Amino acid sequence: MCMSLLVEKGRVYIKGELINKNILVENGKIKKITSSKPMADEKINAKGMVVVPGFIDPHVHFRDPGLTHKEDFKTGSFAAVAGGVTCILDMPNTKPPTLTNELLKEKGEIASSKSAVNYGLHFGSSLDNIEEIREAKGVPSVKIFMNASTGNMLIEDGETVKRIIESARICSIHAENDNVRKAIEFAKSLKKKFYLCHITEERELEYVKGNGKENVFVEVTPHHLFLTENDQDNFVIMKPPLKSEKDRKALWEALRDGTIDTIGSDHAPHTIEEKISSEVYGVPGVETRVPLILDAVNKGKITLERMVETMCENPAKIFKIKNKGFIEEGKDGDLTVIDMKLRKKVRNDGLFTKCGWSPFEGFELQGWPVITIVNGKVIFENGEVYRERNGKGVEYE
Ligand code: DOR
Ligand code: ZN
Ligand code: ZN
Repeated sequence: MCMSLLVEKGRVYIKGELINKNILVENGKIKKITSSKPMADEKINAKGMVVVPGFIDPHVHFRDPGLTHKEDFKTGSFAAVAGGVTCILDMPNTKPPTLTNELLKEKGEIASSKSAVNYGLHFGSSLDNIEEIREAKGVPSVKIFMNASTGNMLIEDGETVKRIIESARICSIHAENDNVRKAIEFAKSLKKKFYLCHITEERELEYVKGNGKENVFVEVTPHHLFLTENDQDNFVIMKPPLKSEKDRKALWEALRDGTIDTIGSDHAPHTIEEKISSEVYGVPGVETRVPLILDAVNKGKITLERMVETMCENPAKIFKIKNKGFIEEGKDGDLTVIDMKLRKKVRNDGLFTKCGWSPFEGFELQGWPVITIVNGKVIFENGEVYRERNGKGVEYE
């Protein structure tokens, strides 16, 4: 069995700079970052490539258990690694929703038996699971739906929302327009910082900037960064919906100026048949998030530094994920090798997600992940996914 891997000759992202170094990964951990050439069982030649910390996607819906006709932990995790992602955090609106510690344990067993990518499982909230929330351990956050979406997890009662925020280490909140203001007020009154999922509007950003950035971490999705209401067709219906061009521009500005902390895909697969025949909310995105943003880096819309901050470092810090997000000796051997020059089109027939489509089909992008290393093993290379069940549940600080 292969125990050590040397990623050699790449330009390695360390503390905001690209440095020519070799990385030795041993037993799943980064053992040495060096200019010399240590022996290793396996070698990757990364000449001409950029090596960054494995990308973390803090917001995906892998639909397992219960909705596995849309996606499951195997196909979702394959899509993740093909998209340069080494760690995902999965949302609780599965069937059944993850509302008890028993169900959390069952979902963990599913993930550990199927996942190619490292994973954490967000806990769910309801009107009456506060005891379960208090007991929940080893979760990145507790999710609150303050607006209706897929799965019946809406909580409208403000007092309940407050009690959940108070009881959890950190909450991830789906809040739209006026509910953003409400959520910030709750957090302020409780002196607790929360994670605001998928911000979409200029006025939400203004509110955050003016009234309490210190109370909230802010996430944006690629679909809100690249699409607008003018792109509307059945396939790009999601919650929150696409907004105006002016809003879209404000999101980019906020991403650059630090108001936005993370980019999460909100990967929400539904089958083509479901999209055509009914109003179901959500678009897939775990596989296209990294190339879309790399293309933006190539176009000078965002720096590579900001990309790594919002897609590797900040997710690890916010959700207190141990040993990930940075290339440092002692950290986990999760690495993404990028070809900044590779130009390719997003194609539905080349995707790993079970739903088989992307709202970005036909987008020609420059900058693609070409090798994904999870726990020291090459899981994705040359368009193929290898060694499927390599993912581990993450640990928290
Ligand atoms: O569009 C969405 N789809 N928004 C959500 O909040 C949930 C997601 C899903 O799970 O389908
Ligand atoms: Zn949401
Ligand atoms: Zn979501």
